[in-house]
Amino acid sequence: MESTQKRKFNIREIREDFPALRQTVYGKNLIYFDNGATSQKPQFVIDAINRYYSKENANIHRGVHHLSQKATNEYEASRKTIAAYLNAKKDHEIIFTKGTTDSINLVANSFGALLKAGDEIIISAMEHHSNIVPWQMLCERVGCVLRVIPINKKGELIFEEYEKLLNEKTKLVSVTHISNTLGTINPVKKIIASAHNVGAKVLIDGAQSIQHKKIDVQALDCDFYVFSGHKVFGPTGIGILYGKEELLNKMPPYQGGGDMIAKVTFEKTTYNELPFKFEAGTPHIAGAICLGRAIEYLNQFNIEDIEQHELALADYAQDLLLTFEGLHIIGESKNKTSVVSFVVDGVHPFDLGTLLDKQGIAVRTGHHCTQPLMDFYKIPGTVRASFAFYNTKEEIDIFIKAFEKALGMLK
Ligand code: ALA
Repeated sequence: MESTQKRKFNIREIREDFPALRQTVYGKNLIYFDNGATSQKPQFVIDAINRYYSKENANIHRGVHHLSQKATNEYEASRKTIAAYLNAKKDHEIIFTKGTTDSINLVANSFGALLKAGDEIIISAMEHHSNIVPWQMLCERVGCVLRVIPINKKGELIFEEYEKLLNEKTKLVSVTHISNTLGTINPVKKIIASAHNVGAKVLIDGAQSIQHKKIDVQALDCDFYVFSGHKVFGPTGIGILYGKEELLNKMPPYQGGGDMIAKVTFEKTTYNELPFKFEAGTPHIAGAICLGRAIEYLNQFNIEDIEQHELALADYAQDLLLTFEGLHIIGESKNKTSVVSFVVDGVHPFDLGTLLDKQGIAVRTGHHCTQPLMDFYKIPGTVRASFAFYNTKEEIDIFIKAFEKALGMLK
């Protein structure tokens, strides 16, 4: 797919690319506002999955035969596509994993093996459980100390407090680029620069940013950047760990098995070079290839067009929602992506979500895997509408009418 000449942002044509959007749920046209949980897939990616299993399926890095070489070439070409998209210096700085959670666990185990008791790790109060629990497990194993950057009521990191937490014992700062619950876009460039001033490394959780913003890992100067394929129009079960070469080379393997070795004897095993050192066993080959296709699909567009469209949707939805009495937006930072989380006095988010579903509207309700954040706001959960670039204002109008109806039934 040609990516130098950018495709015009035509919402009608874009929607045509996504077959899942052309279906009814309970007799109503599906309105899919759960893109924070997972994105729908364009036909281009679906065709690639189909083609892979119909004509290209073979194991990689192992066979002399034609199909194996073809699959290997496609797999490695996908790594190249992703490296170029992220502006990584080297292709082998891109490691295929199962997803964001797997990537963070890889770093927590492998980079974590270089840490010792008393070393400090900083996360933030708005992290997803996947960027909390692996660090807690590491702290329990090794005796590291976990520090948490507090947030204000608007759902923004308190930067001065972050700077106070940094010291010579800080070894890693692991923060989300964009909060899945609040939509807050964190000032990651500043966060990274401050961490580097004390010699700490930085992991950016890009699960909610890769689909909305242009990511340049060299410009950010992050040490690790992680994301999931399924949130960026690709398959589930595949994700990326970007890491700086020098750092990845210092880190021990995470899992042992085939492909990650140079030589095995019963006395001693030596390990393969990057990226294979971190890709033990047969990987999700179709997933990796088709994630490359998803990135190609996305790269047809100017990401600024996508961002602008999505932000206009979020503003529109938020303004309309705020006309309802007793409704509170959770996550009021000015620097937000297309996520609108809210609660309504006296109404449980689950009930709202269920009544919206009956009208064909998919939103997520609950704690969004951010229980400490819910504790901060003293709420059980929120209703979250998260928009992608294929959503429209007309869909928001229908959503608002459905919301009004649901509210009428619950209040
Ligand atoms: N982390 C995903 C979400 O926010 C599943 O919904």
